[in-house]
Amino acid sequence: MRVLAIESSCDDTSVAVVDDGRHIRSNLISSQLKIHQPHGGVVPELASRRHAEVIHVLIQKAITEAETHVDDIDAIAVTYGPGLEGALLVGITAAKALAHTLQKPLIGVNHLHGHIYAHYLTDSPPEFPFIALIASGGHTQLVLVESHSSLKLLGQTRDDAAGEAFDKVARVLGLPYPGGPHVEKEAEAGNINAFTFPIAMKHDGLEFSFSGLKTSVIQTVKKLDSETLPVADICACFQDTVIRTLWHKTKKACDEYGVTQVALCGGVMANQTLQTVFKEEAAAASINIFNVPKVLCTDNAAMIGAAACLSELTIRDQNFYTTPQLKL
Ligand code: KG4
Ligand code: ZN
Repeated sequence: MRVLAIESSCDDTSVAVVDDGRHIRSNLISSQLKIHQPHGGVVPELASRRHAEVIHVLIQKAITEAETHVDDIDAIAVTYGPGLEGALLVGITAAKALAHTLQKPLIGVNHLHGHIYAHYLTDSPPEFPFIALIASGGHTQLVLVESHSSLKLLGQTRDDAAGEAFDKVARVLGLPYPGGPHVEKEAEAGNINAFTFPIAMKHDGLEFSFSGLKTSVIQTVKKLDSETLPVADICACFQDTVIRTLWHKTKKACDEYGVTQVALCGGVMANQTLQTVFKEEAAAASINIFNVPKVLCTDNAAMIGAAACLSELTIRDQNFYTTPQLKL
């Protein structure tokens, strides 16, 4: 099955052509970074406008780059939530128009399912059952993936998402948006023992909390001289605390559910230090860690195409609408 997939839930417009949920023929991503960076975060209205400006060009390019013809596309897939309402609406409207004109089925995909299904675009995806750790700008979740029709939410953040904490800490330190990659770069030269930040809810099940950590970093920054702020040390200690928190809960989930495979999903998983720490810790605990390339960690349409083909939890009703607050 050849699927043309559209993703527009936040600040990246992406269109992909994917075969059988496993093979990427094209995966184009138009970043809106330059538009949002001066504002220090995503401005929803500007995001929707930009999606509307570029989406038709990306659809055409994705088809051309895939070396296919519209007649050979079997279905149109699109993210229906969670995400920014106006941004989602642009993708859904384009997908509906395309499906109607071409008389092809329309498949609605949950964005978080998409992050999990990015793993099926690699040569060796995890086998069932596995635990997916999803950490992005809007979500931090542990999910037990039992089959293509069974996803169980084991725990999630009660407040800020891990990526959101990276973005907010970066802002306080005067680093550009999105904060994750900049904090990671600064942390390379930092000392992870310079400050001690708290691991929140360490003994409270599989829930996360990152707002206390963010506040603790902000308080530390306020107490220090802004002229000689040890940015690298703060970044290293903050990043290490996030990684230790994520690993602690992931290991706990593996132990509780007797699972030995973990799939790392979402933008925060692009962090190389996190991948290294997880690999080391997991080896000692006989757990297998599955990664995807950076481009498949952050938002992209190929993962939506993969989920559209393989997941049994998609929407197949041609009339669906946006669901911004959608849960897993
Ligand atoms: O999955 P994603 O592209 O979009 C959402 O669905 O939210 O994730 C974006 C988030 C941002 O918060 C960004 O700061 C974070 O992922 N991120 C990182 C890194 N690259 C992106 N966080 C830590 N380290 C990175 N290298
Ligand atoms: Zn995402």
